[in-house]
Parts: sequence; C-alpha cells; structure tokens
Amino acid sequence: MRTVDLIIDDIGTLVTLAGPPGPRSGAELGTVRSVPGAAIAIQDGEVVAAGPRREIVDRYRARRVHDAQGRLALPGFVDAHTHLVYARERIEEWEMRLAGADYVQIAEQGGGIRASVRQLRAASHAELLAGALARLDRMLASGTTTVEIKSGYGLSLEHERKSLEVIAALDRAHPIHCVPTFLGAHEVPDEYRHDRAGYVRLVIDQMLPALAPLARFCDVFCEAHVFDVAQARAILLAGRRHGLLPKLHADELAPTGGAELAAELGATSADHLVAVSEEGIRRLAAAGVIAVLLPGTCYFLRLGRRAPARAMVEAGVALALATDSNPGTSPTTSMPLVMSLACQELGLRPAEALVAATVNAACAIGEGARRGSLEPGKRADVLLCDAEDWRALPYHFGTNLVAQVFIGGELVWDEGRRVQPAGSTP
Ligand code: NIG
Ligand code: FE
Repeated sequence: MRTVDLIIDDIGTLVTLAGPPGPRSGAELGTVRSVPGAAIAIQDGEVVAAGPRREIVDRYRARRVHDAQGRLALPGFVDAHTHLVYARERIEEWEMRLAGADYVQIAEQGGGIRASVRQLRAASHAELLAGALARLDRMLASGTTTVEIKSGYGLSLEHERKSLEVIAALDRAHPIHCVPTFLGAHEVPDEYRHDRAGYVRLVIDQMLPALAPLARFCDVFCEAHVFDVAQARAILLAGRRHGLLPKLHADELAPTGGAELAAELGATSADHLVAVSEEGIRRLAAAGVIAVLLPGTCYFLRLGRRAPARAMVEAGVALALATDSNPGTSPTTSMPLVMSLACQELGLRPAEALVAATVNAACAIGEGARRGSLEPGKRADVLLCDAEDWRALPYHFGTNLVAQVFIGGELVWDEGRRVQPAGSTP
C-alpha cells in the first residue's frame, strides 16, 4: 500500500481522457470514456492513478482525502488562445458594430486593436496586472486551469515588454498556469502607419532579440489589413532564430494563405481559420499543425461564416478550442460556452469539443506532456462539477456547472471563491 498526498474520493463520474500521447484527430478526437464511481490519487501535484475507486483505495492510502460528494470529475480546461492583458473593455465599439459598423473599418479609422494599444500604453504594470488577475479568476470559475496569453496591445519595444512582464507576473500570482506568446505583429501602430515595412523591421531587429526570453511562441496576425504572408513568414522565421515556436492568426477574415504558411513553417498551431481554403486544410493535416478554432469570435463579430470544422475533422486535422478572450472580438472567459458554440455553430460532437478543449488545446501550446488529461505523471488539474454526465457542460450553455477546481493537486476554487493556499497572503 503506497501513501500519497491526496485522494479525491467518491467521484460520481470520472473522465480522464487517457489516451495516446500527442494531438488527437479523426476517431480519437471523438472518443471520450467515463468511469462511474471513481477516485484520483495525487502525489507532488501530479496524478498517480485515476480510475474505479475500489482500485484506488485498495492500492493507496492518503494523507488527505477530499470528498467529491458524487460530483463529475474531469481535466481542467486549457484555453489555447487569449489576449488577456488589456487596459479597457471596448463596449462602445461593440455597440457601433451592432449599429452596422464593420470590424476592419473601425480598425482602419484608428479604433479596434489600435484603441487598445493607446489604452495599454497609458496603463501601469499594476493596473494591467489587476485587470488580468480578475479575468483569470473568472476563467478559473468556469474551469480553465491553463491559459496561453499573447502580448500585442503594446506594439513598441517598451510596451510589448510591459505586456510580457505582466504575463510573467500573472503566472506567479495566480494558480492558473500561463504560457506567454509574443504578438508584436498584431497591428501596425499609429506611429508606423505610413511605414509598415519599418514596423516589421522593428519587430525583427529590436523586439524579437530583446523579448524572446519572455515568451515561448511568436504569433502574427496575418490578414490583408495587417501583415501579409511574406511579412508573417519573415517575422516567424526571425522568431524561430530566437527560439520561439511559430503560431499564426490565419485566414480569419479572408483566405490569405495563412494556413498554407503555418504548414510550410511547421507551426505549432494555426488559429481562427474561418476562411481557410481546401488546400490549406489538406496542408494543415499533412504538416500536423493543430487548428485552434475560436467560435466565440464569429459569434461576437456576427461574421455569419464559420470555420469548416467538419471538413477539417474529415481531413484528419487535430482541432483545439479557445476563447480568444480579448476586448474587441471575444470578451468571453468561458471554455464551456466555447465548447457549446463549437457544437452548435461548428457542428462538433460533444466528445470532439471536450478533447479539443483539453488534450488538444494543451498540445497547441506545448503543454501536451504535462496537462490536458488525468493520466499518471500529468499535473493534477481537476474540475469537480455539478453534473452526472460530462456532456451537461456544453449542453447547459451559459450556465456554469464547475463547483471546485484543483490545480497541481491544490484546491484553488471552491464554490464561487478563490482558495488561498495556507501561508499565502490574499
Ligand atoms: O484574435 N485577430 C486578431 N486579434 C484578435 C482581436 C483583437 C482585438 O480586436 O482587440 C482576435 O480576434
Ligand atoms: Fe486572437
């Protein structure tokens, strides 16, 4: 009998998502098994065993037992694409769009991302940190335990550094694990409006060498009104020379060739893909690039178009899901809502949506070996939900069924409030 730190006992239904390592596609993407009457043994923040409770309690003795009271247990959600560090909401812009204004027009008139840039430049590190911490709490409340966060509202060396430093501070200050992405090429800032090539040089020659140590990925918004394929390629190749793995905002508004570029570069992921071409889909599948779909953005922009998710599944592309949480195109922080939109709007099956929001999302941000499922050796990031059937999460759209959240084997969210670990100051 082995002694472990913690057993989460009396789980009504357990979903571990145990399965083959790496991103899942095809039939594996749509396979979810549940175990009735289960328990999880945890040591040093990692899963030791997860399965039928008899097998666990016969083999392990716990220093501490947490009674799940018959709740559903599943792995924490991984939000693979967010822009969480921003100074202000853009509610006026949303109202303008509802009255008929267009996202690109607003951007071209100096609103959109450029409005967020002016606001972020004027905000202090402490203000940005406080705003993003509040949003991380909302994410935790709906079950997100790992999040990718992009810079991209700074657009100068000084302010991109400030954003990346805020992301590092978030990772230290909040239990959610934060993975940083450098997105200096998110827009062309006001002072370079007439010198786009000059801004690309600034990103490549000054920002990347100085800021690469603060990020894991380099991303580019590749679209007609921002950076074209050649500029995106140059930036992502430069990022790679500084050790950053490529990601891409690809084919969000028009078929720009972003998916093809992501495949050419062997990017970790290509994101959005609303307007991806058939050839782009084939190349993503062949190159093993994960497609991160963001149905909250189509909903909130009222695009009327959707990423061709079923065609991607049929072509063998591994899909992941994310909120794209940002003040302009998708303010949501809820992965269960995104899973619901993925089912309703993109035609994903509930099982595909769950795997895309966990296992595949973890792979899309380089965390597949550590997170995304409840398997021996992975972090014990566990959700306990008020449901019997895991499909209830996307089914009850807009309703939060997450009651308690463990990250690294610590209870960090308990029925509507953050739990401060013993010895820490709130
Ligand atoms: O992913 N597409 C580019 N970036 C964000 C939008 C950011 C904004 O409008 O502030 C996105 O949708
Ligand atoms: Fe985005």
